[in-house]
Amino acid sequence: MKHTEKILVTSLKGGVGKSTVSAALAAAFAGMGSRVLLCDLDFRARSLELMLGAAEKTAFNLCDYINGKCDAGSVLVTVPVRAGLLLFCPAPDEDSFGVNGPVGLDSVPFAVSDLAMKAEADVVILDTGAESTIPRVLCRDFAETVLVVSEQSRTSIRAAEITADKLSRINEKIDIKLVINDFDVDLANRKVRAGLLEMIDDAAIRCVGVIPHDSSIPLIADSGVLPTFGPVAAAAENTAKRIRGENVPLFQGVGKLRRRIRL
Ligand SMILES: Nc1ncnc2c1ncn2[C@@H]1O[C@H](COP(=O)(O)OP(=O)(O)O)[C@@H](O)[C@H]1O
Ligand SMILES: [Mg+2]
Repeated sequence: MKHTEKILVTSLKGGVGKSTVSAALAAAFAGMGSRVLLCDLDFRARSLELMLGAAEKTAFNLCDYINGKCDAGSVLVTVPVRAGLLLFCPAPDEDSFGVNGPVGLDSVPFAVSDLAMKAEADVVILDTGAESTIPRVLCRDFAETVLVVSEQSRTSIRAAEITADKLSRINEKIDIKLVINDFDVDLANRKVRAGLLEMIDDAAIRCVGVIPHDSSIPLIADSGVLPTFGPVAAAAENTAKRIRGENVPLFQGVGKLRRRIRL
């Protein structure tokens, strides 16, 4: 049986780029020839179907699938921007799920595992919200690798450290890595914002990727076409390779960042 890479993307802090990193990584793995299942598991504020231009296709969601209201073929949608990339949405709001809803949270890892098998996925990427319950359940019962995302701020790094600490207590075998997102090299060089070494040191988590700040990202996300080229895409590809144990430099192909970084 083939091995499926199971990657949980998380942080207890909102707005740090979990969904952006999840989508960019999914596109990178698919660009490298893998079949990727991208799972939107943010039950409070789903976003990936909008970010990836698949909103019109998502008539059904994970809750429908668990309740037997649709089959796998209806809940899994293809993403126009990349071949080999499938997506599903969570329930429309958190009341349809979990503690207040009709579906138990413990069923999530099993449903994801089942969909990954039906999708014949090589890689499963789990985008989660800024909360702890779903990530904990997935960490216990499904994920192998956790990517804790932080933006370039001390508060966000502290949240990353707390997130990693909590998840390592749930599953001591889980492989936890740091992804620094929205990194602005000029602000770091001017010492206006935290530098890379300082952040990695403070988080005390091995850094597997640095995604640069790119002011076009919010606009691109709104238009539903994630970049498959440019600095963010290049950094996501480096991150994907480093997750697989390849020894690529963090800033390979990231142009400006590679030339100007000072540690
Ligand atoms: N590398 C980046 N460069 C510029 N803007 C970014 C970058 N990553 C994320 N953003 C923007 O930051 C905001 C929050 O990102 P999002 O991925 O939705 O965070 P989260 O999923 O953690 O809440 C969005 O407007 C997004 O477009
Ligand atoms: Mg998000």
